[in-house]
Amino acid sequence: MSERVSFGSRMGAVLAAAGSAVGLGNVWRFPYETGNHGGAAFILVYLGCVFVFGLPIMIAEFTIGRRSKACTGGAYETLVPGTHWRWVGYLGVLTGFLILGYYSVVSGWTLEYIWQALSGGFSGKAPVDYVTMFQDFSQHPFRPLLWLLAVLLITHFIVVKGVKDGIEKSSKVMMPLLFIIIVLLAICSMTLPGAEKGLEFLLYPDFSKVTPDVFLGAMGQAFFSLSLGMGCLSTYASYFGKKTNLGQTAMSVGIIDTFVAVLSGLIIFPAAFSVGIQPDAGPSLIFITLPNVFQEAFSGVPFLACVCSVAFYVLLALASITSTISLHEVSTAFLHEKFNFTRSRAAVLVTSGSLVIGVVSSWALGIWKSFTICGLNLFDALDFLTAKIMLPLGGMFAAVFVGWMLDRSIVKGEVTNYGMLKSSYYPLYIFILRFVAPIGIVLIFVNELGLLG
Ligand code: PHE
Repeated sequence: MSERVSFGSRMGAVLAAAGSAVGLGNVWRFPYETGNHGGAAFILVYLGCVFVFGLPIMIAEFTIGRRSKACTGGAYETLVPGTHWRWVGYLGVLTGFLILGYYSVVSGWTLEYIWQALSGGFSGKAPVDYVTMFQDFSQHPFRPLLWLLAVLLITHFIVVKGVKDGIEKSSKVMMPLLFIIIVLLAICSMTLPGAEKGLEFLLYPDFSKVTPDVFLGAMGQAFFSLSLGMGCLSTYASYFGKKTNLGQTAMSVGIIDTFVAVLSGLIIFPAAFSVGIQPDAGPSLIFITLPNVFQEAFSGVPFLACVCSVAFYVLLALASITSTISLHEVSTAFLHEKFNFTRSRAAVLVTSGSLVIGVVSSWALGIWKSFTICGLNLFDALDFLTAKIMLPLGGMFAAVFVGWMLDRSIVKGEVTNYGMLKSSYYPLYIFILRFVAPIGIVLIFVNELGLLG
């Protein structure tokens, strides 16, 4: 264990963790949740959740990973050997593996949309054609599978290259590219005629919209978006160096993740308002509404419409692939460390397994649509089970573990790098882990299961 690989630089560690956090959750889920929950007020509550509640759990996951120097699947076993806590680690691995399967399907759609944008597939269409186009594609038995395979293979080869040469290097290239695209697109969208209404929607909170549902919805979003609750970040933290400042890294990841989410809103809402489209279109917002928006907004300049569409879907693809890498790494590292498989053998098993889950998830939207569990098709059932049950559970266990179980000297030592750093936030951090986070998560949980009505 002592010769464990680590990220080459602190910047590399931050970018890799931010790469995991920034994904479809920011560019796809955040805008439609904001749209459905009334805009600025939701964003304020979301920010509160990220900083009060998300960051302490992130530091807790970092603590578990760096202290154990083991992947999530082995971290609890290493820290408290022979106890049932190891099941929390296994739960994380299973959650990540399942998410990887269906998340890669959506990630594959972004590649199809890059292709469509490049080959002029969006031009000359009526609004209703975008609906048919999306449905025909996503329900097709084979076409989405090709893109699914492409995503998994790209992810596979990056993970096999290893922590430094694969994960860290790719994040260092993909993340800056992503920032450039997102800033340019946001500027472009905000200068469209009529964009002010979109900005207003994002910037002026209407507090009458803050219901308990908004509050709990925002906490759930914070979880998914920050990659919390399944040990993704704890696996990455097991590759952090001794000098990495856990609090500062969590802060950077939180800021980058929030920045990308808000900028995605700045791309989508001004553009949507500019062409008179309502912001509450839901999950189809970016695959049905947006191609239409770009087409209409730049109807006089087809070249610009094409460039913007390509750039937007490249952005989505980059964001989602840095997340699939982190999901893949959790299972690969587990098989590698627990069963002594070589990294590439472990990765082959993970890629093949997620391909099977991906195929099932994709068919669940098309040829197997009529097969449902509790009224949900298999794709939605997987999403529900992982994002709404397994992630909150995993996060709660991580908070309880660090707050109540782990030795205080270890918890404080990891946060201060064993006396090298000041940590004036420590008492607050412990209070949140012990009380605020577990209670908050139980509330999300109860809400998501519909028990609060
Ligand atoms: N945070 C990622 C996103 O926003 C999704 C994710 C969840 C990745 C959990 C890893 C673990 O898209």
